[in-house]
Amino acid sequence: MTACKKPVPEPEPPIVVDVWPELPDPAFPYSEVTFPETWLNDPAMNLFHVNDANNPITDAGATLGRVLFYDPQLSSNMRVSCASCHRPEHGFADGEAVSSGVEGGVTHRNSMALINLAYQRRLFWDAREAELEAQVLKPIAHPDEMGMDLAAIPVRLEGVPYYGELFAEAFGDEEITTDRVALALAQFLRSLQTTSSRYDAGLETGFSNFTAQELEGKSLFFNGETRCAQCHGTLNFFTPSELMVNGLDVNYGAAGDGGLSEFTGNPAQDGLFRVVSLRNIGLTAPYMHDGRFATLREVVDFYADGIQPHPNLNHRLSDTGVGPNGQPPMAMPLNSAQREALVAFLLTLSDTTDFVNSPWGSPF
Ligand code: HEC
Ligand code: HEC
Repeated sequence: MTACKKPVPEPEPPIVVDVWPELPDPAFPYSEVTFPETWLNDPAMNLFHVNDANNPITDAGATLGRVLFYDPQLSSNMRVSCASCHRPEHGFADGEAVSSGVEGGVTHRNSMALINLAYQRRLFWDAREAELEAQVLKPIAHPDEMGMDLAAIPVRLEGVPYYGELFAEAFGDEEITTDRVALALAQFLRSLQTTSSRYDAGLETGFSNFTAQELEGKSLFFNGETRCAQCHGTLNFFTPSELMVNGLDVNYGAAGDGGLSEFTGNPAQDGLFRVVSLRNIGLTAPYMHDGRFATLREVVDFYADGIQPHPNLNHRLSDTGVGPNGQPPMAMPLNSAQREALVAFLLTLSDTTDFVNSPWGSPF
C-alpha cells in the first residue's frame, strides 16, 4: 500500500437483530380488554365507535401486532420502528415537534398520540384516512418515515426466525403478507386504551381526589368563558366529526401547513384540522399539528389572547361564540392563576398506567 492511496471507507456494519421478543405464554388476553361501562353506555361515544367486525381483536393477532410495532426491521434501514415516533412513555407520541425517520427524513407534522383508536373513525391531523388497516401501512411505505417497499415486507420478515410462528398463531398458517401485517398492527392499536386518568377516578368519586386548583381549572374548561369543552368534548375530549380552525395562523398555507387544503388542494379549506383528544396531553408535548407550543401554559396563553383572525375561524372561538365561522377572535379574560389552573386540570387527563411495562410496551 502506498501512503498516498485514498483509504477505502469501511462499509457500514450490517445490522444484526438477534434479540427475540419476550412474550407471555399464554398470550395476554387483548381480546378481553373492554372499555369501561360508562363509555359503552354513552350514546355520544357509541356514535363514534369503530366497527371492527372485519378484523376483530384476537390475543395472537394483537401479540403479533405488538412485535411488529416495536420492530425496526419493518423499515428500509432497520433502524426505525413505529415506536420510534410513538413511544409509550410519551402517550405514544414522541416528544419532538417533528420526527425523524429513515435516511435523515423528517415528518411534515407532529407525531400524533395514539389515543383510544377504537373510537377514532378519522385518522391523521387532517382526517384524510378513515380505516386503521389502511393507515398503518402508510408510515411503513413513506420515504421520510420507514421507507420500506411494501412488496418487500414478506421476504424481509420471512428471514426473521420468530415471525413464522407468530403469523401461524395469529392467522392459522405461516404465510406472511402485507395485509396480515396491517391486520395485526390494527388489532394491537385498537386494543390500546386510555381511560385511567385522575380525571376518570374523579368521575367515580365526585372529584374528591382533585386539588382546589384542579377543580378551578375543571370549571374553567367546561364553562362558557373558555368554551374548551365545546370542541374538546365527550369522555374522550375531542370532536371526531368535524375539522376546525382554532386560529393558530392568519394563513396556514403561507405559514407552512394548510391542513385539509394540502390534501384536497382547495384553498377554501385552509387551516382545517382535527379537534384531537386531550387525553394524555400532559405526556405528549410539544403541541398542535406542527409542535409549535412547547408547554401547556403556552397553549393556554394562545387561546387566552393569541387567537388569530381567519376566514374559517370556528365560531366557538369568535367573540360572539355563535353564528357563522370567520368572525373576529374571542379574547378570554384569564388571569395568570386561572391559566395555571387550566393547565393543572389538563394534567389530570394523563393516564396513570405504566404503558412501558405493560402488554402495550416493547417486547424486545
Ligand atoms: C417517523 C415518525 C413516524 C413513524 C416511524 C410512524 N409514525 Fe405514525 N404518525 C407520525 C406522524 C407525524 C403522524 C401524523 C401525520 C399526519 O397527520 O400527517 C402519525 C400518525 C399516526 C396515526 C394516526 C393517529 C390518529 O389519531 O389519527 C396512527 C394510527 C399511527 N401514526 C400509527 C403508526 C404505526 C402503526 C406506525 C408503524 C407502522 C407508525 N405510525 C410509524 C409519525 C410516525
Ligand atoms: C373551536 C374548537 C376549539 C376550541 C373551542 C378549543 N380547541 Fe383546542 N384544538 C382545536 C383544534 C382544531 C386543535 C388542533 C389544531 C392544530 O393543530 O392545527 C386543537 C388543539 C389543542 C391542543 C393541542 C393538542 C395536541 O395534541 O397537540 C390543546 C392542548 C388544546 N387544543 C387545548 C384547548 C383548550 C385548553 C381550550 C380552551 C381554552 C381549547 N383547546 C379550545 C379546537 C378547539
